[in-house]
Amino acid sequence: MAVSGLLLGGFMLVHLGENLLLLKGEAAYNGWVEMLLANPVTPLLEIGLLFLFLAHIITGTWVRIEDFLKAPSGYETLRWQGGRTLGSATMLYTAAALLVYLVYHMLTFRFVDHSMGFYQMVTGAFRAPVFVALYVAGSAALALHLSHGMQSAFQTLGVNHPKYTPLIKAVGMLVAVLMTGFALISVYYLLGMDIKAAEAGYNIVIIR
Ligand code: HEM
Repeated sequence: MAVSGLLLGGFMLVHLGENLLLLKGEAAYNGWVEMLLANPVTPLLEIGLLFLFLAHIITGTWVRIEDFLKAPSGYETLRWQGGRTLGSATMLYTAAALLVYLVYHMLTFRFVDHSMGFYQMVTGAFRAPVFVALYVAGSAALALHLSHGMQSAFQTLGVNHPKYTPLIKAVGMLVAVLMTGFALISVYYLLGMDIKAAEAGYNIVIIR
């Protein structure tokens, strides 16, 4: 569960980087996605990714069932003695929300007709407030999930050191905060900031 979680966290950072290319413009974004689709290795990576999600969901569910079956009275107190945070207390709920979000995400961006081009599809979808609200909620669930998940994964793997644990926690928190970037991208298009930037004469907003 810890290994699949860390690898999925790595995927999220890469995916955020990919989607920041939206800000660079249509040619950059479509060029990247089309390059990926033309690469014969991509289907293998997608199967690997599917395997990671399944492994994470199945092991996560199994751990919860085991906890439930074994739990003596007062177990909750033991479980959270390392410090209960909003992230740790809501892991199950954010996991469920992410699963729903992911299915919706696949149905709207992955398994659809891409003939209009990926940039048009994504930015067009982000003009709709309800769609963006779902993306903001999904992004918040992801940030909350990772705020506990990243550090918890290292602890499970036995990385526990007085000197490095605070650093691991800080990096985990940074990764979690970065996940709000998905929400910011969708809000950027909802507010028409790309249009305002183009009117002001900026084609490239963040990355060059
Ligand atoms: C700004 C927000 C996001 C945008 C614009 C975006 C865009 C996309 C697009 C266009 C695809 C389809 C690529 C293809 O058909 O090959 C995709 C796939 C995917 N996205 Fe996102 N995404 C966003 C956020 C997220 C988040 C928050 C997650 C995870 C919770 C996520 C997980 C995935 C996964 C697992 C795939 C499938 C990968 C693949 O099959 O290549 N995405 N995304």
